[in-house]
Amino acid sequence: MKSLIKKAEESHFLSKPEIIRLLEDNSINDELFRAADRVRKKFVGDEIHLRALIEFSNICSRNCFYCGVRAENKNIERYRLMPDEIIQLARNALSSGYKTIVLQSAEDMYYTAEMLADIIKEIKKNDTAVTLSIGERSYEEYKILKDAGADRFLLRIETTDKELYRKLHPNMSFENRIRCLKDLKKLGYETGTGCLVGLPDQTTNSLADDILFFKELDADMVGLGPLIPHKDTPLKDVKADGFWLSLKVLALTRLLLPDINIPATTAMETIHPDGRILALQSGANVVMPNVTDEFHRSQYEIYPGKKSVDYTKLEEKFKQIGRTISQNKGFRPICPLSLNPSPAGRGNNKAKALRKNMTPQEKKLWSILRNKNFYGYKFKRQHPIWKYIVDFVCIEKRLIIELDGSGHNFARTKTYDKQRTQYFESRGFTVIRFWNNEIDNNIEGVAQQILLSLRERAGRGGNK
Ligand code: 5AD
Repeated sequence: MKSLIKKAEESHFLSKPEIIRLLEDNSINDELFRAADRVRKKFVGDEIHLRALIEFSNICSRNCFYCGVRAENKNIERYRLMPDEIIQLARNALSSGYKTIVLQSAEDMYYTAEMLADIIKEIKKNDTAVTLSIGERSYEEYKILKDAGADRFLLRIETTDKELYRKLHPNMSFENRIRCLKDLKKLGYETGTGCLVGLPDQTTNSLADDILFFKELDADMVGLGPLIPHKDTPLKDVKADGFWLSLKVLALTRLLLPDINIPATTAMETIHPDGRILALQSGANVVMPNVTDEFHRSQYEIYPGKKSVDYTKLEEKFKQIGRTISQNKGFRPICPLSLNPSPAGRGNNKAKALRKNMTPQEKKLWSILRNKNFYGYKFKRQHPIWKYIVDFVCIEKRLIIELDGSGHNFARTKTYDKQRTQYFESRGFTVIRFWNNEIDNNIEGVAQQILLSLRERAGRGGNK
């Protein structure tokens, strides 16, 4: 088990059965949390990003089984803040130093995309990032909001178990939720997703799928937490015992997506007195203080006992665990802290030249991989990825193949290669390498290894 944690810490990849084994074995929890904490420190550092959360409407058109603000709940007071009230709350937050405003609401169609766009534009006159968390909308609406200046969007998948999703979300569709997430990615939002832990009939199998889904989507942020049953919902009798499992899902998410932003959610704190700190010590690096006025805050009751923290004491608490408050907007790093790659030849011209100039070994391997000849997998050769050019890559399976000893890569040093590999791995790629003489003398063995690597990565993209 310890070697599995080591593998995750070093390669940021685990197969589904491996994730399930780690989720089910509770004797390794401390090891797991510590490894996630190390990866957090290495990739995103000791800074905690604060996001000011404004809950601007609890009027909901949906009926999610777990949620206290579901439309059918007649026992809560409903409210809707007007644009000038929302802008005022944002201004207050900005003047207390926040660098991100999160506009969150129930699924309330009263707010058209145009209305929200005006609010975003007003807030964006300040030096701040804006995150939206307003549920499912069309591509066109997401585009209007993006064009108005929104930077990020949060939309939890809640669960990737389609059957469970269907049961918990009447009149909603799993496919549409996926469509939303893909649209958000396509539009260039930093996209956040996440899940609920402790749902009835939820299995470790489906939680492993959730984690792999975050990786497959290449989520920029993942927020998750335990289900806290609300008395006015169909899930009122479910046991609220998801804290430790949530913490494990969080830690595994950090291990597999090392450079993303992960909040220590309010649900974690609500269900366990030290929940927030434990989350911050097990992979989380974001906290989202609620800056909605007290009166409305209490009405935004998605679950009972929602913790209200004294945020003036936060800095002190963070200091005690060796952490500081970030002074920047806290986007997902383009180049994780752990890496400091030296510049390589850039872009397509270089790649084109390399394609013309292939070594005999590259030609030999390419003759096997080209034209989807290799078991139907599509490979590209001399392909630029960020500032690097890789020898061969199967994008669908995120598998990179590099040849060593080729004429053109003499300039690579060991450290440089290591940095390259780390970068690719942080983006979910696996890198395998072969020596030129293996290509010359044992091409069957090389092919076998490539096939094994592709199959090992069956979890992402289509299964072959
Ligand atoms: N317990 C915990 N989390 C909940 N959420 C909704 N209802 C509950 C609950 N009863 C979460 C959902 C949603 C987020 C805003 O709050 O995952 O996406």
